[in-house]
Amino acid sequence: MANKVLLVFAHPAFESSRINRALLKAATACEGVHVHDLYAHYPEQMIEIKHEQALVDQHDIVVFQHPMFWYSCPALLKNWLDSVLSYGWAYGDNVGKLQGKSWVHAISTGGSDSVYQRRGYNQFSLAELLRPFEQSARLCAMQYLQPFLTQSVDTLSDERLQEQAQEYAAWLQKLVNDELPPEVDSLQSEQAEYLAPQIEKGIA
Ligand SMILES: Cc1cc2nc3c(=O)[nH]c(=O)nc-3n(C[C@H](O)[C@H](O)[C@H](O)COP(=O)(O)O)c2cc1C
Repeated sequence: MANKVLLVFAHPAFESSRINRALLKAATACEGVHVHDLYAHYPEQMIEIKHEQALVDQHDIVVFQHPMFWYSCPALLKNWLDSVLSYGWAYGDNVGKLQGKSWVHAISTGGSDSVYQRRGYNQFSLAELLRPFEQSARLCAMQYLQPFLTQSVDTLSDERLQEQAQEYAAWLQKLVNDELPPEVDSLQSEQAEYLAPQIEKGIA
């Protein structure tokens, strides 16, 4: 059965966007993907919580598409998370509304993959920097999936960007078809990393 995908888009300066504009155009043509542009929908930034919760309710997968801003997301998306994922609806005792749904990001970064390495220019890997999202998904009992990344955006040629947009459309189509990217579980991977040398030495 096909998944219903809600694409929550957040870019505060869409008129000057190059990367997310191209990606969003490709996403808009995808059947089964409902594009919801937060800054266009809420120019006054007053989020209608019930409306947003109903939207999430109607979908199986939520994709958050946004540029990386200060190692996080644009402000209106943070505001969305703060207000829509409320206690008693998204999490709390006996709350299971979001259980089984998936949470995934499509993020563009100025930095290249190599600057997002442990002790590299940005000190931390992207997976580490995105942990607040990972844990938020976990608190809501949602599956947190590996993100779709577009990096080194300033040096991306127009040709490569067009290819990337097509790859994004194909990635979204897979979400609809229930061919999901792997789930991220940082704690387990950290434990595996920690245990690997010990297993090799035969002490674990
Ligand atoms: C306020 C601001 C903060 C940014 N912070 C980061 C950052 O933390 N890491 C990074 O790699 N790029 C950062 N960038 C670069 C943007 O991610 C990049 O310009 C964007 O992904 C390009 O997409 P667009 O063409 O759709 O605007 C930042 C840009 C702005 C304007």
